[in-house]
Amino acid sequence: MSENTEHKCECAEAYLDIDRVIQKHKGERGALVQVLHYVQERLGYVPKDIQVRIAETLDVSLSEVYGVITFYSLFRERPRGKFIISSCQGTACYVRGAPEVLARLEKELGIKAGDTTEDGLFTIEIVRCLGACGLAPVMTVNKDTHGRVTEDKIPSILNFYRTQAKSEPRQVAGN
Ligand code: FES
Repeated sequence: MSENTEHKCECAEAYLDIDRVIQKHKGERGALVQVLHYVQERLGYVPKDIQVRIAETLDVSLSEVYGVITFYSLFRERPRGKFIISSCQGTACYVRGAPEVLARLEKELGIKAGDTTEDGLFTIEIVRCLGACGLAPVMTVNKDTHGRVTEDKIPSILNFYRTQAKSEPRQVAGN
C-alpha cells in the first residue's frame, strides 16, 4: 500500500498560497511590505527561504528584505510559541523582583528572552510595562495576566500551560 504524505499539512498549502502572492507581485519592489504582511499572517513568521524567494522575485536585495523585517516589530524571523510569555521589566516590576522572575523563566525553559522552546510551546518576550504596575511584578501568558509573581511560582505556572497544551494537542504553534 503506498501512501503519499506530501503536501497534506496546512503548512504546504500556506506555502503554495504564499508562492502565488509572491509571483503576483513579481518585479514590484513597492509590494515588499504587503507581501511580508501576507507571509507573517499565514505562517506567524517569515522564514529565511521565503525571504530569499521574495528578494529574488520582487527584485530587491535580501538585506532590504531583512531590514524591513527587523525594522517593523510585527514581523518575525522565527516562529513563536503557542504561549507567549511577556515578562515585564518596567520600573515598577523591575524593583519588585522581575529580573529574578525572568531568570527563573529562562532557567526552567532552557531558553533566553526572545527565544522559543524547541517544542514550540513557549516564547519569552520582554516588555516595558503591561499597565498593571499595582500587581508588580507582572507577566502575561497570552491573554492571562499573572500578578505578584515570584520565581517560586514559575514552575506551577508553566505546568498549568503545559497541561493545557496536552489537552489541545493539535493546535498549531504561533497562534
Ligand atoms: S512596570 Fe510592569 S506592569 Fe507597569
